[in-house]
Amino acid sequence: MNHRRPGAQGAERLGMEVRGEAFSPCEKNIFQMMTGFFTAKLLAVAVELDLFTWLSEKPGSFAEIKAHLGLAERPCSTFLDALLSLTLLEKKGNLYRNSQLAETFLVQGRLDFQGPHIRFFDTLYLACSNLKAALFENRPVNQDYTYFFEAADREVTCYSTLMHDTSIFPAMVLPQYWDFAESRRVLDVGGGYGRLCLTLVSQYPELEAILFDLPEVCKKAQEFLCNYPSLAERIDIHPGDFFGEGFPEGADTIVMMRVTHDWPPERVVALFHKAFAALPRGGRLLIHEAFKDQGPHPGDAALISLLLLLISPGGECRTFVEIRALLQEAGFSRVELIPTIYFYSLVVAEKC
Ligand SMILES: C[S@@+](CC[C@H](N)C(=O)[O-])C[C@H]1O[C@@H](n2cnc3c(N)ncnc32)[C@H](O)[C@@H]1O
Repeated sequence: MNHRRPGAQGAERLGMEVRGEAFSPCEKNIFQMMTGFFTAKLLAVAVELDLFTWLSEKPGSFAEIKAHLGLAERPCSTFLDALLSLTLLEKKGNLYRNSQLAETFLVQGRLDFQGPHIRFFDTLYLACSNLKAALFENRPVNQDYTYFFEAADREVTCYSTLMHDTSIFPAMVLPQYWDFAESRRVLDVGGGYGRLCLTLVSQYPELEAILFDLPEVCKKAQEFLCNYPSLAERIDIHPGDFFGEGFPEGADTIVMMRVTHDWPPERVVALFHKAFAALPRGGRLLIHEAFKDQGPHPGDAALISLLLLLISPGGECRTFVEIRALLQEAGFSRVELIPTIYFYSLVVAEKC
């Protein structure tokens, strides 16, 4: 009779050497997948409590952290052990300090602070428990906040603020991969509170921008841009519904950042037709968002696609070939792909 544990037999069948009772790498892999929701929540709570910003100033003893967080003995010790196990904290003597990982990504005010992304994914925590319903019913299942598709004022603000907070990376990265020096006027379709417009006009002193978004979102954009009066002079805010009306005229470059992946193909083609109609010959449409890799390994954008299945009616991350076909259907040609950051790419199409 075989007394080996089942996991070890599985690992051996996958051709992995199993020594003693230690977890093999593939067992660890499957264990991490089955407990991933723990770690996501743990990370979100630790960031919400802002523990890493506090520890960044000075390492703390167990008693100090317990008093700072207002926790009882058992939960505090469990919490800190779990953070040690994730290698977000380190312990030397009786002092806890941030690991390099936490110090880089989890401290407020740092360039690479990931708080807004962590908060965004955490808002989908409850929706994830309805993944099966999303799969079988093919409809959004988010319960925490309504996505902007059912745009009551409050929900627009909650969703749009999350988008605004997570827009720093894609907005900062875009001009590193595309030179806007030849553009005179850029239209940012679905531009949110205007972070990209602001980034572009600050880097190109002659450039003008038009921000086009829903009226409720434009009100928030106005408030945000008021903080930068000299730059905001070159940004026109155009409230409207991009499905209900044509795009504002006068831009030679149109940008859609994290917009097309929200919509089913027929709606995306409708947006591309409007972009084509609004551009002069030689004008360009730039799409910056997550794209799946071509071939059998779609990459991490496939997980973002799952997120879109949970929260949007018909959205998904597409491959370059898929988006190019939609662009060509609307009349664009010379379509090229420029990988930018992580799973983001820039797709550029020309009206020839
Ligand atoms: C995923 S967010 C992206 C925002 C911004 N481009 C960014 O990357 O942070 C999509 C944007 O499209 C806007 N939007 C959605 N439906 C719209 C519509 N019918 N007309 C105009 N804008 C719309 C939303 O308000 C939101 O700002």
